[in-house]
Amino acid sequence: MSGPAETPPMFTPFSLREMTVNNRVVMSPMCMYSADDLDGTPTNFHVVHLGSRAMGGTGLVFTEMTQISREGRISPGDAGIYDDKHITAWKKVVDFVHSRTNSKIGIQLGHAGRKACEPIAWKRDTPLNQDQKWKIVAPSPQPFGPNSEMPREMNQTDIAKVIDDFVNAAKRANLAGFDILELHAGHGYLLSSFMSPLANKRTDAYGGSLKQRMKLPLEVFDAVRSVWPEEKPISARISAIDWDDNGNKIEDGVKMAQLFKEAGLDIIDVSSGNVTNVRRPVTPGLFQTPFSEQIRNEAGIPTMTVGNLATAEQINGVIAEKRADLCCVGKGHLFDPYFVRHAAREIGYDLKWPDQYPAAKVFNPKPEIMR
Ligand SMILES: Cc1cc2nc3c(=O)[nH]c(=O)nc-3n(C[C@H](O)[C@H](O)[C@H](O)COP(=O)(O)O)c2cc1C
Repeated sequence: MSGPAETPPMFTPFSLREMTVNNRVVMSPMCMYSADDLDGTPTNFHVVHLGSRAMGGTGLVFTEMTQISREGRISPGDAGIYDDKHITAWKKVVDFVHSRTNSKIGIQLGHAGRKACEPIAWKRDTPLNQDQKWKIVAPSPQPFGPNSEMPREMNQTDIAKVIDDFVNAAKRANLAGFDILELHAGHGYLLSSFMSPLANKRTDAYGGSLKQRMKLPLEVFDAVRSVWPEEKPISARISAIDWDDNGNKIEDGVKMAQLFKEAGLDIIDVSSGNVTNVRRPVTPGLFQTPFSEQIRNEAGIPTMTVGNLATAEQINGVIAEKRADLCCVGKGHLFDPYFVRHAAREIGYDLKWPDQYPAAKVFNPKPEIMR
């Protein structure tokens, strides 16, 4: 198969600082609840899970939301980077991706805030025992949902600790060799809960106007930027809207992006919702891409879009129409680790197979069609 004369937009490279990805597809961060020792250590599962998507041709793979502290875990199975023992384990994942694939690898750093202290995803029907639970913190003493733990309102000492924990996590992430770091400032987790008026009821400098609600996320960003190498980019995932009349609207999402941009953020990863336990409407199609497009145009910062991306045609359209700079694919990558290679094949683009797999190029997945 020979490639078309022009490189499809999906397969054009893209640079942020000194990181260049060789195509526009990103594996979206996805929690896997599979740390081995129930204390954050990634395992061979993570090498295989992230490594196979990188072999599958993805330009950039993101780890799941990786917790910056033990108390910041969603569940006892969460991956973490809050202890030096986690560096070696993550380095194994990163080294595989760097030595065996053409993909870059990023880490998403987070703290679950009032969404912490839950059973792992496939055991949600069995609540944690009293002795498995831990104390949780949030901007305001308001539980996430009716069955959630009651968080303690964070004081200045807690705030200082969270900033410190993000900084130490970033230093460890650099030692592990990650190419890009993403702050999880979406989906109602700690930073996002500060940003949303639905979760932040504070009356001090960290609550009130959007600018004040952004104070902690921006302090975290500044502190992390100061220890993260100059040549490596930083992203932030946000909930651009809360899907609630009393919550953040897209104008707020644009403002969040502007504030992050002024602080020196390189790219915004535009998601939405999940800030309260009221589920966002089930929306077909590229329902979040309009938010990415508006933020990209109005805040003038590169964006990633995410949500229901399933085909090369969609990704080519998003990139060609400048609705986003990168396209995150989540469920599509669970369905098919070789999502990018198969999408290339679909559109007749000659993406080089790994050195070990040249024979895959002559495989005919549709034998009923004569070649
Ligand atoms: C199993 C699973 C785990 C997820 N965990 C995270 C996460 O750790 N961090 C995050 O920002 N989003 C997380 N998400 C959201 C995805 O990154 C993505 O935004 C969402 O699935 C929509 O994209 P898709 O339609 O391509 O799946 C998760 C989604 C799934 C399905």
